[in-house]
Amino acid sequence: MIIVCQKCKTRFHLDDEATDKPSFVARCTVCGHLFSAYKPKRVQEIAFIDLERARRDEANDHVITIGNRKGGVAKTTTCFNLGVSLALNNKKVLLVDFDAQANLTLSLGLKQQPTFYDAQKAFGRPLDDFITATPYPNLWLLPSGRNMVMLNKLYFGAQHFEYMLKDRLNGIKDQFDFILIDTPPAIEFYTLNALTASNRVVIPCQCDYLSTHGVDQVLRLIALIRKRSNPQIRSRILFTMLDRNSHSSRLIFSKIKDLYAGETFDTVVEMDGALKEAQILSMPAIHYNQQSVAGAQYLGLAKEIIANPHDPIPSSS
Ligand SMILES: Nc1ncnc2c1ncn2[C@@H]1O[C@H](COP(=O)(O)OP(=O)(O)OP(=O)(O)O)[C@@H](O)[C@H]1O
Ligand SMILES: [Mg+2]
Repeated sequence: MIIVCQKCKTRFHLDDEATDKPSFVARCTVCGHLFSAYKPKRVQEIAFIDLERARRDEANDHVITIGNRKGGVAKTTTCFNLGVSLALNNKKVLLVDFDAQANLTLSLGLKQQPTFYDAQKAFGRPLDDFITATPYPNLWLLPSGRNMVMLNKLYFGAQHFEYMLKDRLNGIKDQFDFILIDTPPAIEFYTLNALTASNRVVIPCQCDYLSTHGVDQVLRLIALIRKRSNPQIRSRILFTMLDRNSHSSRLIFSKIKDLYAGETFDTVVEMDGALKEAQILSMPAIHYNQQSVAGAQYLGLAKEIIANPHDPIPSSS
């Protein structure tokens, strides 16, 4: 396991068997600081709190996680372009960059903004202070940055860690029609917090050979979260980067569609050069080029999400 001195930030590698305790006090051998350390756990071992609290909590149907265990399947692209499309439909939208890579924040051309980590450190200050306007009407961002990586190091496995985002969003969620959370391709602090905070999950699935594996993994995780901390969570699969000129892409698309019948969006997002060009200019596809195929498809996805607030319960549950 890795523990980090909270004062001088030195990282120490400890043997996993060094202690049985979930948390313990350590002295930093570099600066002498005494600090609390938490033993990270594997997801299966985390003692999620019982369902009582979840049953008391209000529904968060307008809070949507964009997640998949697989990398590079258009999670961030979907969060950005779907957020802009919902905003164009006169919805007030908050994007939450909950990935330490900060790709969503960079996609919006923003850098070095205060992050959720800063918000957690600034006890007593409302989350509103950390939300920033974007160049687009109706669209706001809770940014990510380099220090977000500390959240996983300091809190993953600590008691009730999966409620940190939900508890903070509770104070502001009524100000928005939709809150979209971008997550990393890993099941750690960020994804577990996002899935606890939201009742809907959009699972982007690229039409390629290994995609079903990533979708299957995230559906299993959602099933676990349904049982342990968020019984209201539901999901839908979004096909992304479909290449209609490629026989294999079309074949995989129809196979996965059959496999998860009833659990996919009608909207499909195709491979689109205009979207790639837009990203170079830190712009959403539809603002860069109104003829953008993917831009129009994300607008269609926004309409589908607004029209169908009830997603299916995943078949793995
Ligand atoms: N419809 C599309 N047409 C063309 N390129 C696309 C499309 N959607 C996404 N891409 C490209 O695919 C790449 C991966 O996209 P993105 O960063 O959104 O994936 P991700 O799932 O967020 O990745 P990570 O797992 O690293 O967070 C990017 O280079 C992006 O430009
Ligand atoms: Mg991403």
